Amino acid sequence: MSTLAFDKEKFRSLLRRAVAEGVTLLKNDGDVLPLAEGTKIALFGRSQFNYYKSGTGSGGMVNVKEVVGVYEAFASDPRFTLDADLRKTYEEWVADHPFDNGVGWASEPWFQAEMPITADLAKKCAKKSDVAIILIGRTAGEDQDNRNERGSYLLTEEEEKMLEAVTGAFKKTVVLLNVGNIIDMNWVAKYDPSAVAYIWQGGQEGGYGALAVVAGDVNPCGRLTDTIAYDIADYPSTANFGGKERNFQQEDIYVGYRYFETFAKDRVLYPFGYGISYTEFSIAENSFHEEKSGVKAVVSVKNVGERAGRQVVQFYVSKPQGMLGQPAIELVDFVKTPLLAPGESCNVELRADEDRLVSYDDSGVTGHKSAYVMEQGTYYFYAGFDVRSNLEVGSISVAETNVIKQMSEAMAPVEPFERMKPEFVDGAYRVTYESVPLATVTREQHREWDLPTEWKGSDMGWKLVDVYDHKCSMEQFIAQLSDQDLICIVRGEGMSSPKVTPGCGGAFGGVTDSLLEKGIPVACCSDGPSGIRMDSGRIAFSMPNGACLAASWDLALVEDLYEMEGLELRKNKIDVLLGPGMNLHRNPLNGRNFEYFSEDPLVTGRNAAAQLRGMHRNNVTGTIKHFAMNTQESGRYSVEHIASERAIRQIYLKGFEIAVKEGRAKAVMTTYGTVNGYYTSSDYDLVTRILRSEWGFRGIVMTDWWAKGGVAGPHDRLDMASIIRAQNDLYMVCNNAEQNTNWDNLEEEFNKGNVTRAELQRSAANICRFILDKPVFNRYIDRGNRLDMRLAEQKEEMEFSYDHVEKVTLNATGETVVPGEALPTVRRTYNALQVKAPKAGDYKLTLVVRAETDHELAQFPFTIFRNQDLIQMVTLKGTDKEWRPVDILLNGCDKKFDIALFCAMDGARIREIVLQPV
Ligand code: BGC
Repeated sequence: MSTLAFDKEKFRSLLRRAVAEGVTLLKNDGDVLPLAEGTKIALFGRSQFNYYKSGTGSGGMVNVKEVVGVYEAFASDPRFTLDADLRKTYEEWVADHPFDNGVGWASEPWFQAEMPITADLAKKCAKKSDVAIILIGRTAGEDQDNRNERGSYLLTEEEEKMLEAVTGAFKKTVVLLNVGNIIDMNWVAKYDPSAVAYIWQGGQEGGYGALAVVAGDVNPCGRLTDTIAYDIADYPSTANFGGKERNFQQEDIYVGYRYFETFAKDRVLYPFGYGISYTEFSIAENSFHEEKSGVKAVVSVKNVGERAGRQVVQFYVSKPQGMLGQPAIELVDFVKTPLLAPGESCNVELRADEDRLVSYDDSGVTGHKSAYVMEQGTYYFYAGFDVRSNLEVGSISVAETNVIKQMSEAMAPVEPFERMKPEFVDGAYRVTYESVPLATVTREQHREWDLPTEWKGSDMGWKLVDVYDHKCSMEQFIAQLSDQDLICIVRGEGMSSPKVTPGCGGAFGGVTDSLLEKGIPVACCSDGPSGIRMDSGRIAFSMPNGACLAASWDLALVEDLYEMEGLELRKNKIDVLLGPGMNLHRNPLNGRNFEYFSEDPLVTGRNAAAQLRGMHRNNVTGTIKHFAMNTQESGRYSVEHIASERAIRQIYLKGFEIAVKEGRAKAVMTTYGTVNGYYTSSDYDLVTRILRSEWGFRGIVMTDWWAKGGVAGPHDRLDMASIIRAQNDLYMVCNNAEQNTNWDNLEEEFNKGNVTRAELQRSAANICRFILDKPVFNRYIDRGNRLDMRLAEQKEEMEFSYDHVEKVTLNATGETVVPGEALPTVRRTYNALQVKAPKAGDYKLTLVVRAETDHELAQFPFTIFRNQDLIQMVTLKGTDKEWRPVDILLNGCDKKFDIALFCAMDGARIREIVLQPV
């Protein structure tokens, strides 16, 4: 066993296992899989050169040493032989058709051009190989939704031709989908390949995961966490998806299988929860009991096939329609069995407590407005292997409608619209619509009813460590902070603040000298959902994406994996990961679905909770995001989501509630957009009443990067006052908190009495409480921590080689202007100037830069090194469109030195580079 504090081999093997467990097999005719040892494989598909480890944008910017894609994994396995001639043909073609990164932010194409495969070529290959594997790759991401177009949700013509030629020539064909999200699957019936599997975007070790399943080392046990319908138009959210201004949630709570199983069973190609194995399982009911709060069933699952395997046992409820109307079926629990040998069985306990059985009445139709109720009638329970194939295991009768929890109205819509409701006609449910109940009280009223009172006290010189040592209370400590301290502490700095680990997303806490004097250290947060993003170029482990992990339905594995992620955070002195992303897959076109988990809130919430629990084992944490309802990327900066209070609470917020209650979430990120009239960053109901008062959240809430605030609509000025009033504690991010570089209105509104000192104190206390509990505080007070010490011993220096070098000789005065092209800003490359100066000394380097993009929220980070030492990081925003100088001081240079530039993303432009002595 390794004695290293951070065991990279252990991390790698967990990553491989996690991908393998997530691989979801949908078809396996004639048991073509697993492939026997000695199989000769012809690997088709251009993605063998560019395995997608993740989607694009902040959730994918992890710098890795190496990505093992499908080709690399199979090529490394002596059990198989790959057709070398075919590979060579591809290599030649790819040399003329290099990977297209697009230009700048959010412009990487969803697919890469595919090499045409003729029937002749396919036939030639079929003579040499036993089986064809066809790899199809897709990406999408932040600021770039998928589209119902060829090359995105649909296959390209070239891909279809490849399928036609290869399935025509080979008897055995296996299609592997390297995608972040479900895609159209009608081509399966058309070309009839023998096997089809989603291998998802599996991070840096993804290819090994696919290999393990194809080779039969792992019996496929991934299951769909989304419903695959015939047509994108079948998803009820499609009609409203993508609007730049508004997105009405007309389908209400009928998201995903809740819609299909109720209204449109015949429009489903692959049901929710589906996936096949190399073996067969049977299920039988053992017992069913009504418990004090909910029900418990025990089922016995037996492996009745010939290979060892695991199965996902899913527990569903069918509630009485009642007055509210209900989906035909809803997931209430799931358990993945251990590996069962052929003939072996195990008992699986399934539970559904009241929280899973209640429904929210937002209209008062049950006689109990704003309450979670259980309506009278019979509740039927089913256990099985997907939403369709399951067995009734019991039922309970509720004699009369009960209020389980009385709440009060929150986040209700102000804009009238019609929402979906089932009507039972001729033995089937049909869609009808009803008017949505509207808000009767405003967020401002709620805030005013509940204003905090100020903590008063004189300056006793307490430092934050005195709270830690129980010498004073948090309230006494915070009471001493000046108005200016309070105004600054709620401003986070970034990106790539020099106050924390280089290249990270944000710094918060002791961001001014005065706050530092009070003993508040600067904490560090960084993206993201697919591993640690450090724009300095520093390498980290790239993780399988949320969609892949969720498909494994293995929460224990996810927890173990995130324990390792937690260690890596500790190692890099990062306290908070900006993930997991946990918005619902409301529509398959959402570009960020790869970061998120499922169309179902229980699957979503439990996965997020598992990741958090894993990180908490190392006392770091994650930020659950985007709170809430980021169900599309188009127009994400301002699009208004309009939904009923029932849909918000029962569907969209449920996953977050689970992450808070079961995962003890400590950090939350609000969205860019607005919900029912307010930016989520400023929604008092969302951030204070629901999150904190109802769910008991005790942590920090931060905005998304450069978000807006206040009521929906454009504002001249950043409305930070509304953000703080809502108890969204941290504005992320500004360049300098003290100088108010975002020109926010906080100080002015505070002086006018529109934000109280007590409200600022409340957020300051949330921030300090958070920091006190994180590793940064321990390091700051320097009382020693064994884990930190052991991790520090394992320190690895950053090492890189230059991709391109330009020689520059400074003229006699020392001042020299070099054209920008000398340091090209190409993504993930190190470009260097080798400088010869007339004399040693201090020099100033000025880069004249700007961003080239149409996306306001784009991020273009670059890092300057001198002789491989990191000197400074700069992140341009999408709004930095004008040329501006960035000055960098290079003290104590020798007569010869190198300046290197690393760009994490392309799209930044350099006009010129000026070097002069100082
Ligand atoms: C994304 C967040 C991310 C942040 C920092 C934003 O554009 O929406 O998810 O954490 O940037 O990179």
